[in-house]
Amino acid sequence: KKSEAWSALFSEPMSELVKRYTASVDFDKRLWQADIDGSLAHAEMLAAQGIIGEADRAAIERGMAQIRQEIADGRFEWKLELEDVHLNIEARLTQLVGDAGKRLHTGRSRNDQVATDVRLWLRGEIDGLAALLLTMQRALLAVAEPNVATILPGFTHMQVAQPVSFGHHLLAYVEMFARDAERLADLRRRVNRLPLGAAALAGTSYPLDRERVARTLGFDGVCQNSLDAVSDRDFAIEFTAFASLVMMHVSRLSEEIVLWMSQNFAFIDLADRYCTGSSIMPQKRNPDVAELARGKTGRVYGHLVALLTLMKGQPLTYNKDNQEDKEPLFDTVDTVRDTLRIMAEMVEGIVVKPEAMERAALRGYATATDLADYLVKKGLPFRDAHEVVAHAVKAAIGQGLDLSALPLATLQGFHASIGEDVYAVLSLAGSLNARQVIGGTAPEQVRRQVARHRERLGAA
Ligand code: ARG
Repeated sequence: KKSEAWSALFSEPMSELVKRYTASVDFDKRLWQADIDGSLAHAEMLAAQGIIGEADRAAIERGMAQIRQEIADGRFEWKLELEDVHLNIEARLTQLVGDAGKRLHTGRSRNDQVATDVRLWLRGEIDGLAALLLTMQRALLAVAEPNVATILPGFTHMQVAQPVSFGHHLLAYVEMFARDAERLADLRRRVNRLPLGAAALAGTSYPLDRERVARTLGFDGVCQNSLDAVSDRDFAIEFTAFASLVMMHVSRLSEEIVLWMSQNFAFIDLADRYCTGSSIMPQKRNPDVAELARGKTGRVYGHLVALLTLMKGQPLTYNKDNQEDKEPLFDTVDTVRDTLRIMAEMVEGIVVKPEAMERAALRGYATATDLADYLVKKGLPFRDAHEVVAHAVKAAIGQGLDLSALPLATLQGFHASIGEDVYAVLSLAGSLNARQVIGGTAPEQVRRQVARHRERLGAA
């Protein structure tokens, strides 16, 4: 009994173990739509070029329409011995339409076919993720807008530093996701190139019209080197690098949500539908979604490293190693898509607790820098002002009071130039309002940024 998938060259069937080890159909069947679209564009071009007849083209279209239906209905019988999605679909086509099916692979190899399929599939996913990045930014913006003047203690080293607008803080994440969206749009241009026509590696002797196939499939152009076309996977690596950055941003936001939700901060609350309970501690409401998003970041980083490692030792051109590109890439797409979707929903449901934020800012002497700046305006060199304020803070800590609660006489004990007007500066709102530089936390500036993002993002 000869091998089913290959040729007369083989005098015995493939070992069962090898069959299972080399097959990819269990996971690459996910590419079926791209595979059929690519085949139809190829067949249309073969007919237009007179390489196959019109009747063959029509038969291929008819067969593919039926296969599409079978797969969509879950009736298609995927066979492990046919190795991958490409051979499964082609074999079924031949079963349905005979010789026309056998003509489809003219001037084509699975090497340029799989590279085309992955790019087509990824392009569709990229467009979905681009929309989700907009959703994420809009969700953050929706919480930022009513909180432009809500006061949050800003931290450095996890120590209270200066008061900031909570809206401003959320807009920092909008900036990050906006950059991610830019990166995605940029890498899409490099994904959207057509490998088909490179054949196995050297190009083909048939008079293919590659530009025509590219137009049919919506590619921006064709890969210009056949060897590169079949062996390159840097587009997938670039995508995974983009995904790693998105997840890193999501993970930082998640970490903050977890902290803010803790009783020790109590800055926010999350809607019950995004929390989970404990099987033993009845009082628990845990921010599991944020924790899991933080955790899933690691697996996406893992996929990036897996793909980089997969490619580093491969000589040109195609090697079977490349079959290993799919699972990491698929899982990256699934993870980022699900994470962005759930995080955007959760963010919109954040309940802000402004009093707790304000109390934390007061407890941390967040306006100490403002007092130093006040003294500088009265003529002190900044370093001297810094020292004066350190003494004032020490005294305030000793009395368990905020700087703004110290009597004027006490403050004047630290420096004679301090007057009644100091209290405007020592208030949290006064501190915020003073930061009027572009990109600063003054509510007026933050309002401007909100308007800019609204304009850029449009309505939901
Ligand atoms: N399943 C293969 C892959 O994912 C398709 C290409 C196979 N080409 C070959 N010459 N064995 O890479």
